[in-house]
Amino acid sequence: MGNSFDVGVERLLGSTVPQLASAIQPQPATPRDRGTFYLETFGCQMNEHDSEKVAGVLLARGYKQVESVSAANVVLYNTCSIREKAAQKVFSRLGEFRFLQNDNQIIGVLGCVAQQEGEKIFTRAPWVSLVCGSASYRNLPQMLAQLEAGEKRVTGLDTDTDETFETEVTRRDNPWRAYLTIIEGCDKACSYCVVPHTRGPERSRGSASILAEVRRLADGGYSEIQLLGQTVNSYADPTPRRMRFSELLVVVAEVPGIRRVRFTTSHPRDFGKDIVEAMEAVPGICEHVHLPVQSGSTRVLNAMARTYTRDQYLEKVAMLRAATREISLTTDIIVGFPGETENDFEETLSLLDLAQYDGAFSFKYSPRPNTPSLKMEDAIPEGEKSRRLAILMERQREIQRANNEKLLGREYEVMVEGKSKKERQWSGHTSSNKVMNFTSSEQESLGDYVRVRVTAATPNSLVGERVLQP
Ligand code: 5AD
Ligand code: SF4
Repeated sequence: MGNSFDVGVERLLGSTVPQLASAIQPQPATPRDRGTFYLETFGCQMNEHDSEKVAGVLLARGYKQVESVSAANVVLYNTCSIREKAAQKVFSRLGEFRFLQNDNQIIGVLGCVAQQEGEKIFTRAPWVSLVCGSASYRNLPQMLAQLEAGEKRVTGLDTDTDETFETEVTRRDNPWRAYLTIIEGCDKACSYCVVPHTRGPERSRGSASILAEVRRLADGGYSEIQLLGQTVNSYADPTPRRMRFSELLVVVAEVPGIRRVRFTTSHPRDFGKDIVEAMEAVPGICEHVHLPVQSGSTRVLNAMARTYTRDQYLEKVAMLRAATREISLTTDIIVGFPGETENDFEETLSLLDLAQYDGAFSFKYSPRPNTPSLKMEDAIPEGEKSRRLAILMERQREIQRANNEKLLGREYEVMVEGKSKKERQWSGHTSSNKVMNFTSSEQESLGDYVRVRVTAATPNSLVGERVLQP
């Protein structure tokens, strides 16, 4: 275990990530090799990265990845169930592709919907033969072998493991930014959230194994590492080294060749001064923190079991704002939690004004199976949730517009990540994770770091021009 290495997708496939558009086009009849797979991912970055690892496992077993359902022997959907809409999307996709699927194919549902619905999926979509939650991915090869040997239905639904899903080969989709899960599962038990149920208890990966992988990634040309976990800063090194999360950030940033280290998602309860100090001391740790608040009302935070009050959260914000570096701050917010009064909602709006977030993902509360808040009274009507969401988004948009406009004339380092169809137009991210669209007279190379001066701003992105260094 821990002896993982990385394969660029281009090298393995001679193509880019599977696109849905091509997936729903019926493909010309091609001879079907045994051993091709199609993999589609729904949901968060953790799921995206799990899919990279699942693809790595299958590629290492000799499977070839294909970009259409009809050309695949194994069709896998890595699913999300965080909100009801996400879960519904999975079932409608399973239905949509039914006509492209055939009896010889193995159809598998992976991820959170698999864990949540379990064997019920076989009743709802009888053409599915594999149901596997994220804590059981390490058994996928054996499960596929059982199906290939003629078994009709196989499940992997245990969450009872203290191991993380480390793979020998991970097929990474981005050649410069590598995602790396350092902690899986969640022990926090927020009352609205399915994650503790679908991803199981927290398991951290050993610090030496993380560092070894980062060194290999740097050797492979990756310059940005994004450390992932549902509660990434609750990282607890299981090895005798007992490295703290803030120390891990520093040692990862100091690996030669690594220029940027990001981490997401942080839980406010475990967000200490040591993390800010590490960010102040080491420029390679990106100046961005994603710190979901969920609500600005202590009463609602209590009902959500978030384990902090509005004031305690605002103290964390003050700590970040007092840092010697300008740290950008983003958040997640839920509106319409059961019993949320107009007054509670006003408190969330006033918290937006105080925190001055650089970005916020906001959601209408969605009741989920197996969560404590499912049984709470005083549900907020859908129309009222929509009204609150619209007000909140508009308020936040204005904050972002005003703050981004203050950045006119400033210079930032940007990683070049994309070329626009328009001549001389490029895009990338700043260390603070702002999207920068910029013009340049140079022929930029993707993956390079360049200086860009801000010339215009919108609520969600900056516009700039490349600064040529003497
Ligand atoms: N309803 C609405 N939003 C939710 N989230 C998690 N569970 C729910 C739910 N039941 C949101 C939280 C979390 C983000 C990933 O999704 O804001 O931080
Ligand atoms: Fe869900 Fe709360 Fe864990 Fe985040 S911290 S994954 S919201 S239970």
